[in-house]
Amino acid sequence: MPRCSSIAILLAGIAVLPACPQPEVWEDLPDDPLAYIAEASYRRGILERDLTTQDNLYAAERLERYGLEGQGWDALPVLDFPSRPFTDEDIDAAVAGEPIAAGSGLTTLTPETLPETEQEWIALGRRVFFEYPLRSEGTYTVLAGVPGALDATGWLRDEDGATVGLRVFVDGDGVARIGNTCAQCHASYGGRQEPELDGILSNRAMNVGAARLLTMGLTPGELPPEMDSTLAGDLDRLGPGRADVLSDGQFNPYAFPDFGGLGQMPSLHHNRNWHNRQTATLAVRCETLFITASGARGRIPRVLSWALAVWQRSLPAPEPLDADPGLAAARGAEVFEEASCDACHAPPLYTSDVVVSVESIGTDPSAGLSPVRWSGSYRIPSLRGVGRTAPYLHDGRFPSLEALFDAKRSRDAGHVHGLDLDRADRDALLAFLRSI
Ligand code: HEC
Ligand code: HEC
Repeated sequence: MPRCSSIAILLAGIAVLPACPQPEVWEDLPDDPLAYIAEASYRRGILERDLTTQDNLYAAERLERYGLEGQGWDALPVLDFPSRPFTDEDIDAAVAGEPIAAGSGLTTLTPETLPETEQEWIALGRRVFFEYPLRSEGTYTVLAGVPGALDATGWLRDEDGATVGLRVFVDGDGVARIGNTCAQCHASYGGRQEPELDGILSNRAMNVGAARLLTMGLTPGELPPEMDSTLAGDLDRLGPGRADVLSDGQFNPYAFPDFGGLGQMPSLHHNRNWHNRQTATLAVRCETLFITASGARGRIPRVLSWALAVWQRSLPAPEPLDADPGLAAARGAEVFEEASCDACHAPPLYTSDVVVSVESIGTDPSAGLSPVRWSGSYRIPSLRGVGRTAPYLHDGRFPSLEALFDAKRSRDAGHVHGLDLDRADRDALLAFLRSI
């Protein structure tokens, strides 16, 4: 990948923020599970080095509480809840209004000794992703109690028929509850073109807005007009594959990102909140998410957040949609270069760390400028497997590549690159995009 300074020159004439606004001041910290697990100063070093800006509420909360020896979040109790799959019997019990029973077959995740090989870390991380319960809100009990609600809002079933993304777990007070897992939004079938449950592509059917409406006794898609400007209206507008995680009083959802290829992405989050430098960066990012998602009641064992990061980084980029591209795609590859797409979307992952300001890309600025996650820029998404990753842009605004590159669409929606191509070149470009 070219260095960002040379990309700035390549891009003369295209509106981009000066590339690399921050000098590279990072120390080469070893990627060491033992240091991450045992040394607060190591974790603190990763946090301070890899947040791209300290100038938003997300960064401020972490800087105030994380990586402080014996204080802040480091002093929280360590939680590894006994849990089990969420089955059809649990759904029947919820529909009948019966309390959830812990039942048998409960497991925890912390191993007796640290994994020794990469493969052992990956296997443990995959289990954390599917099995570590995140929240104990009563919402999931209510949702499961609405007949048909889980299937209607995009929850997947695993090969044993259990609901993916939900676990029955024994909470700190000894009461059995239903919690969600990371797999709720980030797992799907078939990232590798075979029916295997994985995290390469996110769960685009998952409709968190409709699920919330059902728990409120409302019918998605049939809200009375006076609810348009209320929270319920926003939940109804959300649709599948998106969540509004910013809690800033505005409607500014993000599309669920895909984990496939994440290990090679230059930054994390649509807003580029983290330089994605090493396993420890992702481990800190995920550990702090577990803490905030639980309302800071406890923290995940660090052996588990490390394992999760190793697993996430092991996932390959999604495969091309069209494995047999043909002539049009060959012409499309030329168009991709002629239109300077590669100045930002540079192979092999068709991304780069060029800093593209919210104003210059022109897409909805609300999330990029939100005080919660402010960075002033949006990450350049990877285009590997892009034929499979609709909906497009950080807010999932375009349902297809045809819609994103429709010459007749409004330019106010931003990302105008490629809109001026003639019909033949545009079709060739789309054939190329489906082939990478
Ligand atoms: C309700 C749906 C939902 C759940 C549950 C969820 N996520 Fe996410 N995740 C999102 C959304 C939306 C984003 C985009 C946020 C952003 O870019 O700032 C995201 C972003 C991420 C990213 C950044 C990926 C990237 O491409 O930069 C990681 C890593 C991640 N989530 C891990 C997790 C982990 C670990 C869990 C479980 C603790 C989890 N997520 C649970 C919706 C979810
Ligand atoms: C100046 C840098 C830049 C150039 C040049 C550029 N892009 Fe992008 N591209 C971006 C950014 C930034 C986004 C994300 C914007 C957002 O999420 O709001 C993006 C998003 C996309 C997406 C949506 C991907 C997804 O997963 O959501 C596609 C497809 C895409 N670009 C293709 C192209 C093509 C094809 C060209 C050339 C015609 C091109 N881009 C030129 C910066 C660029």
